[in-house]
Amino acid sequence: MKIVMGIESSCDETAVALVTDDRQVLAQRIASQDDEHRPFGGVVPEIAARAHADRLAPMVRAVLDDAGLTLDAVDAIAATAGPGLIGGVMVGLVTGKALAMASGKPLLAVNHLEGHALSPRLADASLAYPYLLLLVSGGHCQLLKVTGVGQYTRLGTTIDDALGEAFDKTAKILGLGYPGGPAVERLAAQGNPKAVPLPRPLLGTAEPHFSFAGLKSAVLRAHEAGVHAPADIAAGFQQAAIDCVIDRTRRALAAAGEVGALVVAGGVAANKAVRAALEDLAAAHGLRFVAPPLALCTDNAAMIAWAGCEKLAAGHAPDPLDVAARPRWP
Ligand code: KG4
Ligand code: ZN
Repeated sequence: MKIVMGIESSCDETAVALVTDDRQVLAQRIASQDDEHRPFGGVVPEIAARAHADRLAPMVRAVLDDAGLTLDAVDAIAATAGPGLIGGVMVGLVTGKALAMASGKPLLAVNHLEGHALSPRLADASLAYPYLLLLVSGGHCQLLKVTGVGQYTRLGTTIDDALGEAFDKTAKILGLGYPGGPAVERLAAQGNPKAVPLPRPLLGTAEPHFSFAGLKSAVLRAHEAGVHAPADIAAGFQQAAIDCVIDRTRRALAAAGEVGALVVAGGVAANKAVRAALEDLAAAHGLRFVAPPLALCTDNAAMIAWAGCEKLAAGHAPDPLDVAARPRWP
């Protein structure tokens, strides 16, 4: 059995985890920075990097203590090396490098998106390749065919905002605070999704890409018109977003060829209406629908450690200690 330490710091969660290659999460800690960023209505990169730097080293110690292990027992250090906010990524990666250097253990530089893409297999041993992954969070909005470790085909991406970002901006317009997704979902439950006519950008286009900027602008105009109840705007927005997601995912399924499951990951997977619509879509295609536990869907370090486990199992060579942090990494 191999044990991998995972480190995640690419956005606003500081996280460390110890995961085994037989799918046990031995320990994990995660610290959200919502309180630090809330006054600004979004993530402030400089504040995020400083908070990661303050928290990461004690968190590494705490996670080892939680598991009753020392670094000697760890077989590899997996750290997110991008994409993300570069200051935060550098804090996590340099921490991983320091641990690898001090312990003589291999370093695995993990693409954050690869962590998301493989995490459903940590929760579900029976989830086999290939599968279609809809990754929807505050920073990501992609449709990926996952064929194996390091084998990802991006079928669709957003040409402007991510879906979670659209939820957050809608929340801001409606004065619901940050992070906005859960607040929009709660308010939408009290509204009529048909009361406010809103656009469905890119609906029906051939390539399964996303666009939410026009929807957000329409939400702003509807709000400024002052005639609609906020609950109706929230419900209308959520329904428009779901219609887009389902249409785009249907297209991606057609383009993906043979897949065994439809998988959703990312913070927006918490949304019950989004989940239910995807579940129906999967059923209509005779596919398994897999939504990992939320703690694995949102940013976390277990998924980074697990990606490290998968890389080791696939015979992936360790990364050099001078591997660079990458703000962009397709
Ligand atoms: O995966 P995540 O924790 O962080 C990254 O962005 O990578 O996702 C956070 C995003 C935020 O935009 C948040 O508003 C959205 O997920 N979100 C939701 C819900 N819960 C979280 N969006 C819609 N409905 C929800 N219930
Ligand atoms: Zn993420």
